[in-house]
Amino acid sequence: MFGIKHPIIQGGMHYVGFAELAAAVSNAGGLGTITALTQRSPEALANEIARCKDMTEAPIAVNLTFLPMLNPPDYPAYVKAIIDSGVKIVETAGRNPAQVMPVLKDAGIKVIHKCTSVRHSLKAQEIGCDAVSVDGFECAGHPGEDDVPNMILLPRAADELDIPFVASGGQADGRSLAASLAMGADGINMGTRFIATEDAPVHQNVKDAIVAASELDMRLILRPLRNTERVLNNAAVERLIEKEQTLGDALTIDDIKDEVAGVYPKVMLDGDMDAGAWSCGLVAGLINDIPTCQELIDRIVSEAGAIVNSRMKAMFA
Ligand SMILES: Cc1cc2nc3c(=O)[nH]c(=O)nc-3n(C[C@H](O)[C@H](O)[C@H](O)COP(=O)(O)O)c2cc1C
Repeated sequence: MFGIKHPIIQGGMHYVGFAELAAAVSNAGGLGTITALTQRSPEALANEIARCKDMTEAPIAVNLTFLPMLNPPDYPAYVKAIIDSGVKIVETAGRNPAQVMPVLKDAGIKVIHKCTSVRHSLKAQEIGCDAVSVDGFECAGHPGEDDVPNMILLPRAADELDIPFVASGGQADGRSLAASLAMGADGINMGTRFIATEDAPVHQNVKDAIVAASELDMRLILRPLRNTERVLNNAAVERLIEKEQTLGDALTIDDIKDEVAGVYPKVMLDGDMDAGAWSCGLVAGLINDIPTCQELIDRIVSEAGAIVNSRMKAMFA
């Protein structure tokens, strides 16, 4: 469907999904994704896509995240920039992309929608998405409010969906790929794992923090606002959780803006690890090195092959 060699996608990531990372993933045979809203304007996005196309001939995707915002970005202009740039794959997330489907489909673009439940996946299928990225409770960022991990969510999705889907959340290595394929997925989508690579254009402190973190170092925040986010714990996150506990149902976004507003450039570009809350998956517990994207993808594919061809085959011989 996407014209890629290996069924491994790099999900959109705010202030991580720049041209360098997307090109490195695509050059390694996966699908690299530029994150549209990290670019301050549709013109800046067009430039970022052009920069990426200078670095790779392989297909790339653009992530378009629909966020609940007081001043929403000019989505139609971002969509136009994507279409005019000739990109043929869009990852949507946040809420279902019904509004932009007609114009994306008219432009011959394949749409993969990322969502966290079977019912949202079925909705995506119904409105004409070509594929779904099924994001389990393990994931970095927004796992939704159902708390269903991939061990259950993936086979449930396989039972219900007619369109292809990839497994997202908690994916790190060949074991993840083999297991996800076994549970009915057609590939995997990774976020956190791709940050800890040589190619990710983020501060070294971020990569080191992911390598140092165990699966016990993440926290869920914003649950009282029904906008749950999984983040790496730090001083700001502890402050935020204390406010959640003290204010209870009275909590508003204003109460926590110091901990969540404008955090990403400070963390990702400046390496200020206590600047605020930033998304990170439980999968950090499985990440112990900082390879290139090529090394990572090659390793995942060969490990998965070995698991299927030796370990699993031997069990059923
Ligand atoms: C730092 C960071 C920023 C992210 N930003 C976005 C985003 O802007 N839009 C989006 O759809 N997903 C975003 N995600 C989610 C990833 O695309 C992906 O779905 C998720 O990381 C999968 O879970 P994993 O980290 O366990 O692989 C982000 C993830 C991380 C780690």
